Amino acid sequence: MSCQYVPHTRIPTLVFATSSQASQHVAVMIESLIRQNNSAGQPTVLGLPTGSTPVGIYRDLIRLHKQAGLDFSRVITFNLDEYFRLSADDPHSYRRWMQETFFDQVNIRTENIHIPDGTISQDTADEYCAGYEQLIRRAGGIDLQILGIGRTGHIGFNEPGSTRHSRTRLTTLDPVTRRDAAGDFFGEENVPQQALTMGVGTILEARKIVILAFGEHKAEIVQRAVEGEMTDAITASFLQKHPDTTFILDRAAAGELTAVHSPWMVGPVEWTPALIRRAVIWLSLTVGKALLKLSDDDFREHELYELLREHGPAQRLGRRVFDEMMKTICTHPGGTEPGTILVFSPHPDDDVISMGGTLIRLLGHNLRVHVAYRTSGTIAVFDHDA
Ligand code: PGA
Repeated sequence: MSCQYVPHTRIPTLVFATSSQASQHVAVMIESLIRQNNSAGQPTVLGLPTGSTPVGIYRDLIRLHKQAGLDFSRVITFNLDEYFRLSADDPHSYRRWMQETFFDQVNIRTENIHIPDGTISQDTADEYCAGYEQLIRRAGGIDLQILGIGRTGHIGFNEPGSTRHSRTRLTTLDPVTRRDAAGDFFGEENVPQQALTMGVGTILEARKIVILAFGEHKAEIVQRAVEGEMTDAITASFLQKHPDTTFILDRAAAGELTAVHSPWMVGPVEWTPALIRRAVIWLSLTVGKALLKLSDDDFREHELYELLREHGPAQRLGRRVFDEMMKTICTHPGGTEPGTILVFSPHPDDDVISMGGTLIRLLGHNLRVHVAYRTSGTIAVFDHDA
């Protein structure tokens, strides 16, 4: 399995080619911890997340249980969070999600499973949350905490503004988080406003932490959490202070890290044609100048001196990339003959979002264009958007 550490990050960061390879790596890490503790007759205390990110880990753990006899009878789990005012059997509750996705398919003991109870009343929340913390302490603390990261930079439901010392509590969800959950709830208006969550301070007490992020939509927040200053605006950045945290990413989620995105900023690079193109376009966007207007000073002032020396001057580099980009423009995407074009679009918006300009051009060339939507629009696209 190929993976590599990204240099110059504030949290050790490991990148895998695919999310399934990354999930498998974490599942094997959990497996060896459990096997080691089982053979010593010790419990294993895991902190667990919900969401789309950990699904692959749970799938691999179930496979390890069924096919390789991984024994969960001594495993104790604490889930990070739960929506407030959702009953345990509500289809959207994390309790139900955990049962169906994982617990029902391994031999964990019911009494060893802990998930915050979303049905408690508001005035007992403080007491209940203190009790949850006490249960973690009584279990001996969390050996391994698995985390995802939200687009707000949250861990658990510790939204921006949560302090480094925050404890398990009832909290209000950020609008971005509620929007991201809207698909599951068939509309943002149905997403609960509040949730119970382990605090940042609670999470930081885990002996070992693994935080995962997959997909391009996480790349920006991962970059800020891993390379930016530690700030309560991005609660995942507090992990910079934890002694044993690893960020585990797929390639897409690593895309904005400096060493991946602009490797020339962190050391010498081999100037391949693709990297030259990337650097020159990056420079043009950074200084806000057209490719053909870039100057030698622009290159010098933005850590691109080596590129200038090896392939310059600026005018030549700008022209080279400009010509390459011009060649990517297809003036007749439907060919030059009359005909009918059939476009397949997964949802009733992907066609316009991803190829609206092409559609206009096709129609401008008098081609007949039909779009086949491959869903009714009731999944992921709400009526008002459709
Ligand atoms: P996701 O959520 O795994 O569904 O992306 C992560 C999170 O919000 O913590």
